[in-house]
This record gives sequence, structure tokens and C-alpha cells, in this order.
Amino acid sequence: MSIRTLDDLLAEGLSGRRVLVRADLNVPLDKQTGDITDDGRIRAVLPTLGALVEAGAKVVVCSHLGRPKGAPDPQFSLSPVAGRLGELLGAPVHFATDTVGESARSTVADLADGQVALLENLRFNAGETSKDEAERGAFADQLAAFGDAYVDDAFGAVHRKHASVFDVPARLPHVAGRLVLREVEVLSKLTGAPERPYVVVLGGSKVSDKLAVIEALLPTVDRLLIGGGMCFTFLKAQGLEVGTSLLEKDMVDTCRNLLERADGKILLPVDVVVADAFAPDAAHDTVRVDGIPSHRLGLDVGPETVAGFSAALSQAKTIFWNGPMGVFEMPAFAAGTRGIAEAITKADAFSVVGGGDSAAAVRALGLDESSFGHISTGGGASLEYLEGKTLPGIAALEN
Ligand code: 3PG
Ligand code: MG
Repeated sequence: MSIRTLDDLLAEGLSGRRVLVRADLNVPLDKQTGDITDDGRIRAVLPTLGALVEAGAKVVVCSHLGRPKGAPDPQFSLSPVAGRLGELLGAPVHFATDTVGESARSTVADLADGQVALLENLRFNAGETSKDEAERGAFADQLAAFGDAYVDDAFGAVHRKHASVFDVPARLPHVAGRLVLREVEVLSKLTGAPERPYVVVLGGSKVSDKLAVIEALLPTVDRLLIGGGMCFTFLKAQGLEVGTSLLEKDMVDTCRNLLERADGKILLPVDVVVADAFAPDAAHDTVRVDGIPSHRLGLDVGPETVAGFSAALSQAKTIFWNGPMGVFEMPAFAAGTRGIAEAITKADAFSVVGGGDSAAAVRALGLDESSFGHISTGGGASLEYLEGKTLPGIAALEN
């Protein structure tokens, strides 16, 4: 690969130089308190930031958080992230209350060597996500003015053709940070020649989000285990009734076609936990998939499914998992996700956990992160990588 790395940049000597770092600090916040509920993405960029601080660079970090609509919106402020980042770095992070305005300019200008600044949410500016090259370019010019070099360590955002990801590297000497390198190294093992059997577990709510990756993976994998909300559209495609479970009606034919072409590689649940309502305290029972009552909805996979999926996982030499098996945030519907996660950790396999929700599930369920081969910080990004798509943020580093 023709990508320059952080080590190449460090070798040039960075003392006194301003380095603009694109990070993905898009962490989940508690809706009531605004507290950070999972700081995994902040911890994941510490190796890159620590190396830059140690090298005496003036480190200017930028990120998005959530999906504000191109204007400031206090609920999406990065301010709590600046606090947490400072705690983890063991040094204060100078927070700019705008992204490229007066506060950002003076914050960057006042940085001493080895200090870190964080700019306010990139998506408070319409130019960040604009489809218009000129509008994106104008915003990229403003961002690029804050750095003498650019480091992309925002793996979770490399699939976005956004100003900070795609246009800034065209304007500054650019390298990949430690996290981006590690992620690409791991995922390229899966697209290269994975050790077999290669078993993929997919969950989450929507088939439509996963369709492209299923298409791309079918020829490559030995087994594809499907759970989560999306399994009901597949069950419907098999002619089963799914009650009031999540169902993408317009995807039923597509799922039927996938099952026909899958040559038995796709494994679906044989039992599910059905409830009266989408609520933590809803009355619930485990039923066979051919006995889902018309007034109830499935919120988790059942124990027989966990046993069957676990048996397939125990044979695997390579595992990729994206998407929870059920509504793991509610303890009554967490057993499926927990069971599959535990089966993955027990397998004698190289395992990769892809994505926001599954990574958060691993931590929320108190599982040992180190018993997985790699926990990716990118949900959409890791899926698009496995689809074989060109990722704008990676392509921009290659030039
Ligand atoms: C993510 O959480 O998937 C990444 O931070 C990218 O965010 P986005 O899907 O809003 O672009
Ligand atoms: Mg996303």
C-alpha cells in the first residue's frame, strides 16, 4: 500500500509543528444526562495522540458527533468528549467552542508544543457533509489552515466522503494514524485468505443495511448466521408468520432469493423470545419459529438457536460478528447476544467484532474485550470494507 504512516511523519520531527488529527469521537451519550456511555472510541485514538504529544507537536483534533444538520446544536456538542479525552491523556484538552471560527483560531494559535486542542463538532458546518465539491472544499480550506500535516485516525468515518475525511488530505501532507492502520490490517485478513472455516454472524435490525455485505460475503464464507431484528424478514421469506416482529416487507423476495442461492450456508434461528411489547418488563416466552403468535414480537433469539450457532462457531478458525442478536439493552432480551459473544470468545479462532453496536454490546455485557481478536471502531466502515468498496478516506490517503 502506498499509504504513509504516523511513523513516517514522526520520523520527520514534529516539534512545534501543528498536526490536524481527524478522529471518530462519535461516542454514545446518555439521553437524559448527556454522559458518555461508552468511551471505547476515545480510548482507541490515544496511541496516535500520545505519540504526537510526546513528539512535541501542537495537536489539533477534529471529529463529528451524531448527525446535527449543518448548524450548531448543543445536544451534539463535543464538550463532554474534551473532558474525557483530557482525563485519559492526563493533560487538559483545550476545547474550541466553534469548528473554524474565532474560538478555533485563537485556541489553535495559543497551543504550546505537546498540547492538544479539540474543535467543536465538524457537522455544525454544512460544508462538512455537503455533496457540493466547492462547498466542501471551502470548509476543507478552513480546516487545513489549522495544520501543517494531517493524520486520519477516524476509521469509523473513512466510508464518508466528507470534507474532513476526503478533502483535507488533498490539501496537506497526510498519513494514516495507528488506529486506521490496525483496522485495515485486520480487515484485510478477512478479505484476503481467511483461515477456514470462516463463519460470519450478522444481526441488527435491518436487512437493507446488510444486503450488500451479505451479497459480498456469500461466496467467501463457510457459514452465515443471521439473528437480530433482521432475521424475521428471512423467516417470513421461508413462509413463516412473524407476528408483529420487525419486518421489511419489500425485502422478503430478496431474502428468499438469497436463501435459494446460499447453498445451505445461511443458518437462521429455530427459536425466538417473543414479547407482548417492546419494553424491558414485557411478558415474554420462548417459542419455535413456526409458532410465533400473531400479536407478539420477537426481541431475541432463543436458547436452541444459541446452541446451534455456538456449535457452528466452535468449528470456526475465522469469525466476523456485526450486529446484536436481540435487544441486549434490555436484560430480558440480552441472552442471545451474550450467548453468541461467549461462543465467539471460546472458539479457537481469529475473531473480529465489527461496529458500534456490537462493540458496545461486548462492553455493556461486561465481556472481556481482550478475548476477541479485534474490536473494530467502525460499524458502517468495516461493513463497506468487507463489501470491497472503495473507502473515500482510505483512497484520499493513498494519493
Ligand atoms: C458511526 O458511528 O457509524 C460513525 O461515527 C459514522 O457516523 P455516521 O454514520 O453518522 O456517518
Ligand atoms: Mg453509522
